[in-house]
Amino acid sequence: MNNFLSTSDLSRDQLEKLIAEAMNFKNRAITAKPLAGKSIALVFFNPSLRTRASMQVGIYELGGNPVILEPGGTSWTLEHRDGVVMDGNKTEHLKEFVRVLERYVSAIGVRTFAELKDWEIERTDPVLAAFETYASIPIINLESAMHHPCQSLADMMTIREKLGPERKKVLMTWAWHPKPLPMAVPNSFALATAQLGHDLRITHPKGYELDEELLDQIERVADQSGGSVEITNDPDEAFNDVEVVYAKSWGGSQFYGNLDADIAYRLPLRDQWIVDEQKMARTRDGIFMHCLPVRRNVIVTDAVIDSARSVVIDEAENRLHVQKAILASLMA
Ligand code: CP
Repeated sequence: MNNFLSTSDLSRDQLEKLIAEAMNFKNRAITAKPLAGKSIALVFFNPSLRTRASMQVGIYELGGNPVILEPGGTSWTLEHRDGVVMDGNKTEHLKEFVRVLERYVSAIGVRTFAELKDWEIERTDPVLAAFETYASIPIINLESAMHHPCQSLADMMTIREKLGPERKKVLMTWAWHPKPLPMAVPNSFALATAQLGHDLRITHPKGYELDEELLDQIERVADQSGGSVEITNDPDEAFNDVEVVYAKSWGGSQFYGNLDADIAYRLPLRDQWIVDEQKMARTRDGIFMHCLPVRRNVIVTDAVIDSARSVVIDEAENRLHVQKAILASLMA
């Protein structure tokens, strides 16, 4: 493994090995310090609780030193586009930023959200791609415009931990949120679920379709892994008989650049697209998952997220263990 950018760069076997390794870290069966004497840079263009804290703690527990940088905050504003005249508000180019940083550190983790301005550009993950282009050391995606593979690996570990290794019926449901959000989490969750051979049902209102090319890829890998993919626009029947409910809100790609239009379009969807006890009652004693942060009584009711079927805190803990497995593998 040279980088960790998307689970699609890894085979099912490699994903299974990372999850097994993460379980070993969680059970304290591994005490090795593969990062001893090494520093790892964590570059945050956007806010974070879980990713930042779990990476920082994970690097420390593996014997390493985390170096946190916030472009535009604690480090210079960064330009990633090639060939631009930098006479605006960007102070440093990624070409220098990455090449300087890699003289100090052994890997770079990057968080760079979609700006929801231009779908055709953002779907190519331009900032993450620039890091990959200029770096000669491993790059770890800590959530980009299109993917959040550390989260999806923790999600897959959590499903395995709670329900066992067999194929499961998994629902990913869109949920109403006052603001359009990036698609990285749903993209990566759907992809990893298909890669591990689960039966994936996706439900969202019309207008919130995932990227067509990504959906083709998800269907292809589901075929290869023995899983399946089903898409429905029914927010209630979608819950029938599933064993896992994964809630997430995201913005419609056609609204990138016009977020007010998305906000107006989604307003009537508010009451129908929340995860509540009535919907959970349709499941096969399903567990409730969300990557967090979550807006209570908007995405999910208090009754569901506070219930015994909610696994959101364990899911967040598992970020620490999978990231240790990823870091150990990248340094091996
Ligand atoms: N799930 C997740 O990535 O959380 P943070 O945004 O707090 O890092």
